[in-house]
This record gives sequence, structure tokens and C-alpha cells, in this order.
Amino acid sequence: MQAKLQDVDTVLQQSAALLDFSEPVAVMMVAILHFVPEEDDPRGIVNRYAEATAPGSYLIASHGTAEGPAGERVGQAAAQYEGKANYSAHLRTKEEFAAIVAAYELVEPGIDWTKSWRPDGALTSGEEVAIYAAVGRKD
Ligand SMILES: C[S@@+](CC[C@H](N)C(=O)[O-])C[C@H]1O[C@@H](n2cnc3c(N)ncnc32)[C@H](O)[C@@H]1O
Repeated sequence: MQAKLQDVDTVLQQSAALLDFSEPVAVMMVAILHFVPEEDDPRGIVNRYAEATAPGSYLIASHGTAEGPAGERVGQAAAQYEGKANYSAHLRTKEEFAAIVAAYELVEPGIDWTKSWRPDGALTSGEEVAIYAAVGRKD
């Protein structure tokens, strides 16, 4: 399927050919929400996917931010999108990301850096903290 995240009707209609929306499903918005500008209402978009899915469904989401120690470099990287892609990057704070995914009950540990969100093993040190992760359940 090729559709913008914002085109919720198309995504849901085409997904319905493969998925049974009366059963819980997982919606994955990985490294994509930061390409949705404020005027497109990212929270409203997430809400619509939440409303279309059955209780027990999950959202798996991540979001770029400039809040970490590499913030300046992340900001510079985001600026590279300007004029080079047909979308631009909108870095947001943890609080802003939380508001966008508020339709879901976040599972532990809530919003954390992708690399420290339930890591499989010991964490390595480093600055790769540019993206927040969250998993939420729709009750
Ligand atoms: C950083 S990649 C992440 C891809 C994938 N989710 C992953 O984790 O490997 C971002 C992708 O989102 C796509 N994209 C950007 N804005 C989008 C939008 N509004 N709707 C759908 N896809 C979009 C880009 O074309 C690109 O393929």
C-alpha cells in the first residue's frame, strides 16, 4: 500500500482487505510521526487509528527529538530534510510525543529512548539518543 499516514481512510480501507479490525491489531508508527507537521494534527491522526482498532490493540511508536545530548546534531540532521525531501522533520519533546499518543495506555517504561526501552542486553554508552519510543495499549 502507498498512502500517507495522514490519509487515514485509505490506510484503513486498504488494510481491511488483510486485517480483521474486530480483533486486536498492532499499529506501528516507527520513525514516521516526526514527519507529520502540527497543522496535520498528529494527535488527531493517532486518535483515528486508535478508534478504528479493537480493544486490546497496540500502538508501537517512535519520535525524533532534539532533547538528548546530541540535540544540536539532531537538529542539523532534521534541517537537511528541508528542500531535499517532499516532507520535513518536526522534532518534538517527550511531553509533545506523550500528548500525540495519549489515546493509548502506555506500557512500562512509558516513553524512553529507543535504545533503553526494554533493552535485550546491557546498554552500551554513547550518544545515540535522538528518538523516543513508546508502546501503548487501547483498552
Ligand atoms: C525513517 S523511515 C522509517 C521507515 C520504517 N517505519 C522503519 O522504521 O524502518 C521514514 C519513512 O516514512 C516515510 N514517510 C514520511 N512521511 C510520511 C507520511 N506522511 N506518510 C507515510 N509515510 C511517510 C518516508 O518515505 C520513509 O520511508
